Amino acid sequence: MPKPRKTKRRSTNLAGERVKILISGGRIQRRIQALARQIRRDFPEEPLHLVSVLKGGVFFLTDLARSISGEVSFDFIAVSSYGQATRSSGQVRLTRDLDSSIEGKTVIVVEDILDTGMTLQYLLRLFQQRKPKHLRVAVLLDKPERRITAVHADYVGFSIPNEFVVGYGLDYAERYRNLPYVGVLSINPTAKKVSPKRMDSEQASRR
Ligand code: IMP
Ligand code: MG
Repeated sequence: MPKPRKTKRRSTNLAGERVKILISGGRIQRRIQALARQIRRDFPEEPLHLVSVLKGGVFFLTDLARSISGEVSFDFIAVSSYGQATRSSGQVRLTRDLDSSIEGKTVIVVEDILDTGMTLQYLLRLFQQRKPKHLRVAVLLDKPERRITAVHADYVGFSIPNEFVVGYGLDYAERYRNLPYVGVLSINPTAKKVSPKRMDSEQASRR
């Protein structure tokens, strides 16, 4: 049997990025179970229609949908906003609409994170015009310090400090979405730089 090598695992990648675990995968899963029970308690008889925002909200939607008992359907929408790599700006644009009508349905919007609130403000206005029976919001993460709108989430997984986080759907320039946990991203400025211009345009086109 070969002996295990005693090399230390690299925790900083070539771009000088490091991710420090903030919320473990286990804690995320336990919290989602509790949110699912709470949602079903609020709507004990209703078929629920989950609407998730691509791409960041996808893992949250799939875990939440599997944890809610009774009738559940889902759909996806995509938006883009213009801004810097670790900041979202005010301009939100619809890039993919829902497949089906939400009129008369009990709709839960499922988002990865509530930051400034601009995205959800835009989506809630849009959905309200389509006359759902009920419209609620579930977010895995909430950064209340960053809020610049009056948007309120009915179901919140975790309230977090004003740090840039990745994992469990959340990305930095499309990377880190696949991490099973949520971590704080830090970037060592002396390491090899990826052009900020490139980051900006990548981030502008996808969430
Ligand atoms: P808001 O419109 O400012 O509330 O921004 C919401 C969107 O910005 C989220 O759906 C994410 O796509 C992105 N975002 C906000 N904060 C973070 C973060 O800390 N990490 C990764 N993406 C974030
Ligand atoms: Mg998102």
